[in-house]
Amino acid sequence: MISPHHYWSTLWPANILLLLTLPALLLLLTRRRRPNLRHPPGPPGWPVIGNILDLGAMPHRSLTAMRDAHGDVVRLRLGYSKSAVAILSTSAAADFFKNHDLDFADRTVTQIMKVHGYDRGSVALAPYGPYWRVLRRLVTVDMLVAKRINASYPVRRKCVDDMIRWIGDESGSEIQVARFVFLTTFNLLGNLMLSRDLLDPKSAEGKEFFTAMMGLMEWGGHANVADIFPVLSWMDPQGLVRKMRRDLGKALEIASRFVSDRIEDGKDKKKEWDKKDFLDVLLEFQGNGKDEPDKIAHGDINIFILEIFLAGSETTSSTTEWALTELLRHPESMAKVKTELREVVGPDRKLEESDIDSLPFLRAVVKETFRLHPPIPLLVPRRAIRDTKFMGYDIPKDTQVFVNAWSIGRDPDQWVDPWSFKPERFLDSKVDYAGQHYQFLPFGAGRRMCAGVPLAHRVLHLILGTLLHEFSWESKLTVDPKDLNMDDRLGVTMRRFEPLMAVAREVRG
Ligand code: HEM
Repeated sequence: MISPHHYWSTLWPANILLLLTLPALLLLLTRRRRPNLRHPPGPPGWPVIGNILDLGAMPHRSLTAMRDAHGDVVRLRLGYSKSAVAILSTSAAADFFKNHDLDFADRTVTQIMKVHGYDRGSVALAPYGPYWRVLRRLVTVDMLVAKRINASYPVRRKCVDDMIRWIGDESGSEIQVARFVFLTTFNLLGNLMLSRDLLDPKSAEGKEFFTAMMGLMEWGGHANVADIFPVLSWMDPQGLVRKMRRDLGKALEIASRFVSDRIEDGKDKKKEWDKKDFLDVLLEFQGNGKDEPDKIAHGDINIFILEIFLAGSETTSSTTEWALTELLRHPESMAKVKTELREVVGPDRKLEESDIDSLPFLRAVVKETFRLHPPIPLLVPRRAIRDTKFMGYDIPKDTQVFVNAWSIGRDPDQWVDPWSFKPERFLDSKVDYAGQHYQFLPFGAGRRMCAGVPLAHRVLHLILGTLLHEFSWESKLTVDPKDLNMDDRLGVTMRRFEPLMAVAREVRG
């Protein structure tokens, strides 16, 4: 999704610092202070800019380091007027989700998210309330109910077969793994959503759509100075709003063409329930144009379409890239997962979704990857709906809340040897990512938990399992796998800093 994870480091060209200092100082001096609030502890911060520099380019990491000094709940000031709280431990997360989920059920919406009214039609950003409930039901009940996911398996099969072919064509040469996986997930979502092969070289619209969506993902991953210093909004200092307006406008325009083609096409057709794609389901939420009211506003259908791509493609591909990287660094785990695939699936056929339940080690690899590399490490930030007392602290309305899934996955009170990759830890454990185990939150928890878990679960295991079953992998020929750079970077999702380059060779089993 368009998520407020930022390259904080992109914030600070010197001229911008200079520009904002004066007006911000004035605002700071005239700001009304609220007396006697008991704030959570936190680093002192600088005048005007607050704790921005403390967060640095990798806020999930710097916040983890703050736990020792300040405790499980840390308060930060972002710029001169915005307050944020970070949740850094399992016990604090448990209290947050069990007792205060509703108090923090809104999202923080940044300026680029408001472009073309995106935030209003987005499930991930919509304010908590009746319209969000309609949108969310659409995803969880109407699109991703198990029966419909099962019915759409042939679509996923076809896209994963395409992936096997693309990678097979490159057999023996070094490839950027995440690129292939990203294209696969993007195309897969295109097929599930719109029954279109967006990557078909013959489809000019598919190509245009892909390019515009890549733009959105790029701008969505940058921090915008104007969010922290709203006095600068008028000048759009990094040009992000302008670029977003252009690419989001383009993507919405193409999506609306997809929709009108379908309406035109489907006028006289009645489709069987199991032949309907997500767009058919969406269109049923439109009234008949006469007496029935629309449950979803017209323009919001286009936003909804984009949202599914934004939510599902980078998250899935970056997780696959991390999993493969960890396996390359841990040959003993790679050997175990390969053996399991050989025994359960065997050399004579492909891995199918129905195999997932019989592959405990593969599932443990996925979980261990999520624990160490949650693709959205600070989840999608929440916002306090009202003044709230949390763990004895006063949290004023509108405070932004980061739940640091990255540090919670390394919580030394919960995990033995927390920094090591050991999938075995999940084999005899009931801990899963359904939002009930607060030491493990790659999909979040509570009311605003990821709405796509059932689909993400299938796609991820199908893609990773297939990559491992169909191919043998070697990392860059010149690099010892132990020396693979494990740094991350935070954009729309947390990716590997250096994209994984690896050589695949076709050898099933
Ligand atoms: C590896 C894959 C994925 C990961 C790790 C992931 C993770 C997340 C996280 C952390 C959140 C925020 C949760 C919170 O605030 O507590 C979220 C929200 C969301 N995700 Fe996912 N996601 C994935 C795939 C998907 C897919 C495939 C879809 C859709 C088909 C999807 C749809 C959504 C939606 C609609 C929301 C917003 C929910 C709301 O605000 O009510 N996600 N996701």
